[in-house]
Amino acid sequence: MSPFLMTRTLPEHATEADLRADVLHGLTRTPKALPPKWFYDARGSELFEEITRLPEYYPTRAEREILLARAPEIADATGARTLVELGSGSSEKTRHLIEALPGLHSYVPVDVSESALTRAAEALLADHPGLSVHALIADFTRGLALPGTPGPRLAAFLGGTIGNLLPAERTAFLKSVRSLLSPGDALLLGTDLVKDEATLVAAYDDARGVTAAFNKNVLAVMNRELDADFEPDDFDHVARWDREQEWIEMRLRARTALTVKIRELDLVVHFEAGEEMRTEVSAKFRQEGVRAELAGAGLALTQWWTDEAGRFALSLATAV
Ligand code: AVJ
Repeated sequence: MSPFLMTRTLPEHATEADLRADVLHGLTRTPKALPPKWFYDARGSELFEEITRLPEYYPTRAEREILLARAPEIADATGARTLVELGSGSSEKTRHLIEALPGLHSYVPVDVSESALTRAAEALLADHPGLSVHALIADFTRGLALPGTPGPRLAAFLGGTIGNLLPAERTAFLKSVRSLLSPGDALLLGTDLVKDEATLVAAYDDARGVTAAFNKNVLAVMNRELDADFEPDDFDHVARWDREQEWIEMRLRARTALTVKIRELDLVVHFEAGEEMRTEVSAKFRQEGVRAELAGAGLALTQWWTDEAGRFALSLATAV
């Protein structure tokens, strides 16, 4: 008996083609910008894991606190038989949930990283041999087809990663999540919350410089994958709170005027001294905003839980 299945819905070379398109577009526009998904090669994923243990980076710990406290309520409210986790990564945060869902039949982790899916599934199956795990290698921002596992379904999008999407992308994303669900199914959504600027900026500009290294890792990814010649020391890490948009922006700022060759794209890119390239948006939320965005996608907010310190929220919403 093999309860582990893996389905690939990404074409074999999709990642490579996407990176080329994103870099070509992002480095020839003004202001320059790259999507944050390109941070996460093996080194970038390791640096992110390190970030989650930093004293300044509270979201991971705050979300774990809520999940631990509320898992039984989530199980009661949803009666989930299938858990679909979008951007599952190591599946570490979902473990509490899986263990708290008494009727759980299937776990469907969705991620672009095949190696992360394999490792996570093996670790989970070692402890839960009866669980049916059907991993999907897919880009969940593109639209998905789920396996025919039993309902009710609970979709989970944790970690605050929805904050990486721009408002129009969030609208499209939530609608596509809703389309995976039937009325009565549920979405569990993790969102970091608006709070004082000093706390937010420190979380994205830690004293040890781990976030700076994570930010600069995107340069190493372009050097390796696209034969570019970025010099990480030519750039400074910048984290800024945008109080109008209510999001953190990470940028890389050129220390001097410089030119970079991206050989695979036959592209030469010029940076002015002090020019900044946006590498990530991490939006922060308020309850009313989350409620409205969910409602716009046909999802009714039924529970709003925060950690004791009120820094992070988990929302439970029902598909209407
Ligand atoms: C993984 C997207 C939730 O936005 O807080 C951490 C990524 N960037 N430090 C976030 C990140 C800089 C993180 N997410």
